Amino acid sequence: MRFNDSISAEGGLSARRADLLRTLIAPSILSADFGHLARDCQHILAAGADLLHLDVMDGHFVPNLTMGPDVCKGVRAACPGALLDVHLMVADPARFIQPFAKAGANHVTYHCEVLSPAAGAEFAKQARDLGLTVGVAINPPTKIDLLWPHLDIADLVLVMSVNPGFSGQAFIPEVLDKCRAIKPKLNAHQHLQMDGGLNPTTAPSAREAGCNVIVAATALFGAPADQRAGIITQLRR
Ligand code: DX5
Ligand code: ZN
Repeated sequence: MRFNDSISAEGGLSARRADLLRTLIAPSILSADFGHLARDCQHILAAGADLLHLDVMDGHFVPNLTMGPDVCKGVRAACPGALLDVHLMVADPARFIQPFAKAGANHVTYHCEVLSPAAGAEFAKQARDLGLTVGVAINPPTKIDLLWPHLDIADLVLVMSVNPGFSGQAFIPEVLDKCRAIKPKLNAHQHLQMDGGLNPTTAPSAREAGCNVIVAATALFGAPADQRAGIITQLRR
């Protein structure tokens, strides 16, 4: 399972454009109940989520510690067919490509704040050799010029709409301009993902700015389980 599985191989430009217009919903399991993680992951996929987003934090690049490869392994065992999207908010992301690949990840995203373009290209090569797709993320305060040299090597660009570290923060609307600048530079196979403070009220602006992958933690796992399918529909709309 890969991000680009959502893009039809045989379709012409219009088919690919239609596929990229389809919004993918990526619940961040950071706000799931860690005591019942398998249950929550299975339930959110059954409620219509397209993939699972795993927020990995090292206490250095961001001021929090979250999950490592063993959690990914547990999620993979619980959800054998799910696309597992690993967001590496760590100072040394290359160190974790292989452990997460072994733990069943499908995709790894690094931050452009921590790798030079050359190191990013090497990260991408290592990840692809292990069968993973690659994303590059940019934080709200980071100037967009830092991102440009990383663009060609990425299957996905992740625009952070909160300062990474914690779920439940308020959406930073200023990042929408970044999306509007990035979107025209992406090719037909590159996804634009937004992460942080997204809910049915803020997601429309992300979609209008060109994002086709919406990450949400609090908006989904903070809601009663029986309302999550409806919220997924609202986030996608
Ligand atoms: C932030 C993480 C996000 C976060 C989103 O550091 O990268 O994925 O969990 O949480 P919400 O949706 O609650 O803002
Ligand atoms: Zn994330």
